[in-house]
Amino acid sequence: MSLPTSAPAPTRARHFPPGFVWGAATAAFQIEGANTEDGRSPSIWDTLCARPGAILDGSDGSVACDHYHRWESDLDLVAGLGLTAYRFSLAWPRIVPGGKGEANEKGLAFYDRLVDGMLERGITPYATLYHWDLPQALEDKGGWRNRDTALRFAEYAAITHHRLGDRVKHWATLNEPWCSAFLGHASGEHAPGRTDQAEAVVASHHLLLGHGLATEALHGGRRPAEVGIVLNHYDVSPLTDSPADVDAARRLDGQQNRWWLDALYKGEYPADIVEDFAQWTDLSFVRDGDLETISTHLDWMGINYYSSFVVRGLDAPAPAGARPTPWIGCEDVEIVPNGEPVTAMGWDVVPSGLTKVLTRIDRDYDAPPLYVTENGAAYDDQVVVDGAVQDDDRIAYVDAHLSACLDAIDAGADLRGYFIWSLMDNFEWAWGYAKRFGVVHVDYDTLERTPKASAHAYAALARENGWA
Ligand code: FCB
Repeated sequence: MSLPTSAPAPTRARHFPPGFVWGAATAAFQIEGANTEDGRSPSIWDTLCARPGAILDGSDGSVACDHYHRWESDLDLVAGLGLTAYRFSLAWPRIVPGGKGEANEKGLAFYDRLVDGMLERGITPYATLYHWDLPQALEDKGGWRNRDTALRFAEYAAITHHRLGDRVKHWATLNEPWCSAFLGHASGEHAPGRTDQAEAVVASHHLLLGHGLATEALHGGRRPAEVGIVLNHYDVSPLTDSPADVDAARRLDGQQNRWWLDALYKGEYPADIVEDFAQWTDLSFVRDGDLETISTHLDWMGINYYSSFVVRGLDAPAPAGARPTPWIGCEDVEIVPNGEPVTAMGWDVVPSGLTKVLTRIDRDYDAPPLYVTENGAAYDDQVVVDGAVQDDDRIAYVDAHLSACLDAIDAGADLRGYFIWSLMDNFEWAWGYAKRFGVVHVDYDTLERTPKASAHAYAALARENGWA
């Protein structure tokens, strides 16, 4: 087994600051199943799964990991690994099935049980309100293209916080809104599977507005809430210093990173990207006061990090009819392999990019404390014996990225915790069950869970708070 070359695992003892949070992450649609049970309504992902060709293996989320019925033993797994934090998401279609109006008692009761189960096991809940499963009823009214969805999101946030806020202190509004907006509306790989670049920009704004309104609702609730948002960032660098490559990097970085960070922390969209977007939209849907709402105070921020991009500007735009890219107007930008090993997703393994992302946010933005809310890798795990997997490549990936986290802390970043993606193998969106990210193996025939070698390695790191 060879380690990624850019950030070898430390050869000397290194420790995280006292109190560093060690957790694991999942998302409702990816693990729960039971998608017609106890009053849950369809989400946009149920709809996308039913569209032929949308999901690589033709699968759906109807059973997933059956976590809805197996949540107790799943929490035992978290506790058994010695983790003290669990990041999960709440399914909006379980809690407010119609998207607005009446809350569903049975949906709320499920999360009551889940949260109580965490607390009984000494696990701190980190709840995410929106990990992509918009109620289809709202999509039918225009989804995130419709400003009203932002208001409905704030209502759902308030209902959920009212019920769970006595026990849940850490709340994230959105998970990776870039994916909801750009993968969902520009390239169409994610739900709702649309391919209209202007719509993607509208959706991005309404997602951010929903975040701001929900944050205000949570902060205004009866119980104190520590509110954050979870973004997926990449370090983006040009292949050469040619003007075309440098401009390609500017555009990708602008849409992937600065669009969100500038709105949240500076209360404005980046001027260069606004100018780039002008041929698709004049942003007339942005109303007075919106950016003030969007840049409301945040208590923490979550970073999901998987890879980084080296980019090249092509001389000619891609031919008409080429597959739409999620980055708007970036058909002439190519992401080039950086020469590092890749995961089973084909994603370059670039631990040093995580250090750069964390230190950049710390340097360029007045950001609150940071958490790595997702980091991990899919590999083609070979089952060795009785479900156990010797996943040395995943162990090396996690080691190198945790080492990169420490480098960021050493450089001054206020990083408070790390959540591995994912607790267990699960429904990987458009890839279906074909890609396994878990540190716990799931046998999809029997639904049996077996911790992989990486689970034990991660538990040891958590126990030692680093490398002993
Ligand atoms: C992130 C998602 C998460 C999972 C990982 C691999 O973008 O937030 O649900 O799919 O990627």
